[in-house]
Parts: sequence; structure tokens; C-alpha cells
Amino acid sequence: MGLRVMVVGSGGREHALCWALSRHEEVDAVIAAPGNPGIAELPKTAVFEVEPNRIQELADLAESQKTDVTVVGPEQPLVDGITDYFESRGLVVFGPSRECARLEGSKSFAKKVMERAGVPTPAAKVFEGPEQFGDAEEYIRATEGPWVVKADGLAAGKGVLVTSDAQEAVAWARACMIEERFGTAGHRILLEEFASGKEASVLVLTDGKNIVPLPPARDYKRLGDGDEGPNTGGMGAFSPVPEIDERSLDYILEKIFEPVIDSVRKTGQPYLGVLYGGLVLTEEGPKVLEFNVRFGDPEAQVVVPRIAPSLLDAIDAALAGELDRVKVQPVYDAAVCVVAASSGYPEKPKTGMRIEGLNEAAEHGRDGKVVLFHAGTKRGPGGEILTAGGRVLAVTGLGDSIRSAREHAYRALEEISFEGMRFRSDIAAGVEENS
Ligand code: GLY
Repeated sequence: MGLRVMVVGSGGREHALCWALSRHEEVDAVIAAPGNPGIAELPKTAVFEVEPNRIQELADLAESQKTDVTVVGPEQPLVDGITDYFESRGLVVFGPSRECARLEGSKSFAKKVMERAGVPTPAAKVFEGPEQFGDAEEYIRATEGPWVVKADGLAAGKGVLVTSDAQEAVAWARACMIEERFGTAGHRILLEEFASGKEASVLVLTDGKNIVPLPPARDYKRLGDGDEGPNTGGMGAFSPVPEIDERSLDYILEKIFEPVIDSVRKTGQPYLGVLYGGLVLTEEGPKVLEFNVRFGDPEAQVVVPRIAPSLLDAIDAALAGELDRVKVQPVYDAAVCVVAASSGYPEKPKTGMRIEGLNEAAEHGRDGKVVLFHAGTKRGPGGEILTAGGRVLAVTGLGDSIRSAREHAYRALEEISFEGMRFRSDIAAGVEENS
């Protein structure tokens, strides 16, 4: 009998995971909670309306659906301890424990782990609570910018400010520490040294001992072309990253991932799952800006399609502590993902708009060069697909080069329209390729 796999989450990342898992012959069923209309259309897949924060209900669902393993998309349930709770009920999760998830749940904790492990990361000072706001302000005024101000806890990708304006840095620190812009997640802040360089997302799979790197990716965090506008959850991504060749990936594994994963293992809780390093490639070498304890979004939409046939085997091997027997081989040389977002995103997305052209865009996928992922959609009363979030769709083009993958993504995206739709037109533009 084949496997029954549950995927927690409802975005483009989870659509990519369900898409890849549902294609495996060994998978009998994919159970998505809560999924989305795109996920619901996948073969062998069923969606259930259980939100990712309802950990107990998710465990009930996993039990009633007789799932063999659960893959968790978003960070919050991992930080809240979904893995520990599932395990207490005899259920298997491919994801880190609550303790390990602190690598994402607390940036100051991650800094301490990196310090202990000798991992390169920009230096940071930590300030906590309204009583230390004055110290933070003094520190900003006494130092030269640019300033990087980070909320310690989870802030849905919005908890970082980079600015050359001291006044803005102080105002932001005040908003976090006193005005609770991010609730308790921002009570503690980090003032981090600015590190200049291109960024890269390097994701690895690990069983706590063995590490398998996935193809590196780069995402685009700003809303507008040319990296203008506010930070978002991510407006697009591409993979591979030309600056990271095989040798530099080995270096990154040796200097960053191995020491961190070894250090975490020594505390008695080996890290199981995906570990995502948000890196900056400085003149002094790669440094870690942040760790995430799950697949990136939209990085998953470019990484997962590239390695889809290896995904299940890698998860299986990691759960057995045998990742050393797996090598993840990309089946496409390149992938580019462009996100279509709602007007008003990221502050106040306007939703409920009818999406046109989905079938026409899907036609581009017939030859395997485009995959259309739903990110924030819902079905209307007549079965039509409506926008239901800030990021609405993630269109991934695949090809033998970044250039061709990019062309495929944008050509398919041209078919799609909804009121207020916006997307960046410069995703993966001008990326120089090694090959
Ligand atoms: N793309 C950034 C993230 O997933 O956090």
C-alpha cells in the first residue's frame, strides 16, 4: 500500500509541495489542510478546512485520514510545537521540534546558536522591552547607518527594517518595543550590523546528522521593480543562483549548515526537516541573515519543481535517519517564479476579484514548462476562482536556462488577469548564468 501524506498550509509553497508529492507513484493520497482551490484539483488530493494553527484538530485529521507523514509549510505551527504534539500522539512529522524551531522563532536565539557554532553572521545587539528602548535609541544615534532593525519573533516577513535614516530606525524600534506593532514578537529587537552583498536562499534537508542541499534560490522581497517599495512575503524567485557554484555550496555547507546542525544535535534534539539559510554573499564570504525552519515561499515554487522526483525519497530517508543514501538531482536546469499579487498588498490587499485566464495559463503547462500555483485564492458561489489574499498566484516557468524559464513564466502570466493585479516585471531579469 502506498503512502498517505498530509501537507499543512494553503499558499503557493504548499501547492508546490502537494503538486510534487501527488506525482509520486508511491503516494496514494495527499491530504491538504486547509489547502486551496488549486491544490484541490490535484490528483489523489483532498482538502480539509483545518487551519494551520489548530494543531490538535490537525492531529485528529492526520489520525482519521491514517496519514503516514505530515509536512508542515508555514513556520507558526512549527514554532508552536506541532512536531512535539504530533509525536506525543504517535504521528510522524517531517519538521523540527519546537526547540529546534526557535532558530526561526527567535532571531536572538539563532544568533546565540551561530555564535556558539562559529557561523559567520552580522554582529547584533539585543534590546528588550520598553525599558531598553532608550538604550536602543542611544545606540542608533551613536552609530553610523545603514541600520538593520529586526523584531526578534515571527512577524510574517515584515519584521525587518533596513534604513539609512536614523529617525526612521528609532521610530521603528519604538513601534516594536513600545507600541507593539508585532505584538510580543517585537518586544525584543536586534540592531544588526549592515552587510552588503547579493542575497541567496540555501535550503537543506537534514535528519540531524546528514545534510542534503537543495538547489539554491534567490527571492525578491520588495514589492516593486528595481527593489522599490515595501517588503513583502516575496514577489518572485529563481533557481539556480549563478554566484553559488558547487564549490561555494560545499563551503556554505561546511561553514554554516554543518556547524549549526552539529551544535543543535549536541543539545540533545537533532534537527529534522528543512533548514533554510537566508544568506548575504559579502566580500568576506557568505553570512547568515536569518534561519527559517521550513521551505521558503516563493523559493519552494522554484526549488520543488526542479527536484520533484527526489522529494519523497529524501523525506523518507530523513525520517529513517538515512539521508546519506540520497542525492537530490534537479530535473530542470532552471526555474523562475513570478507572483501575481492583489492591489493594496502588502498593507491592505483588496480581495474577492474574479481571476480570468487560468485555463489559458494552464495550457502553457502542457509541455511541462509552466506550473501554476495558487497562493491566495478561493472558489466563488458559481465555482469561479476569486482572489483571497495578498499573494494570489505564483507562476513558475521551467527550462534549460534562467532566460527560457523566465520567458515561460511571463508568457503564461500574460494570460491571467484580475482587477488590481500587480506583479514585478524584473524577476530574474539580467541574471548571468554560469552555463
Ligand atoms: N521567501 C522568504 C521566506 O519564505 O521567508
